[in-house]
Amino acid sequence: LNGPNLGRLGKREPAIYGTATFADLTDLCQRAGRELGLDVDVRQTDFEGQLIGWIHEACDNALPVVLNPAAFTHYSIAVMDAVKMRTAPLVEVHISNISGREDFRHQSVITGSATGIIAGFGFQSYVLALHAIRAELDKR
Ligand code: DQA
Repeated sequence: LNGPNLGRLGKREPAIYGTATFADLTDLCQRAGRELGLDVDVRQTDFEGQLIGWIHEACDNALPVVLNPAAFTHYSIAVMDAVKMRTAPLVEVHISNISGREDFRHQSVITGSATGIIAGFGFQSYVLALHAIRAELDKR
């Protein structure tokens, strides 16, 4: 699940986020999912309420989530409260290393309620997160 402006990948600040597009990210995640035996549904929204609705859907169906909350990471108590209701592993991901960027990006209100966080590996952050979810599911 991807938050605001991530649909603009490819055009958006390529020096930070690269030149590959959201469609490329979707392909990468679906390919990685197939290799790991995970059925991956990739979604993106610019709207907080929509993202929260998708998190509720995952909570209600005990579905694991890879979540890039984008800018909501840094201030959305509403997204945090939704994540607190999770019923399966939830991995927070970021394309960039948020701890190495502007001060306001150092804080995530999400991390404390997630299973864990992976940041700074470009699109590979998502692949690593899918591996983490596979490992969490295999533990059960
Ligand atoms: C991001 C980092 C956030 O600080 C930013 O607002 C984004 C993308 C990342 O994937 O690196 O939109 O979540």
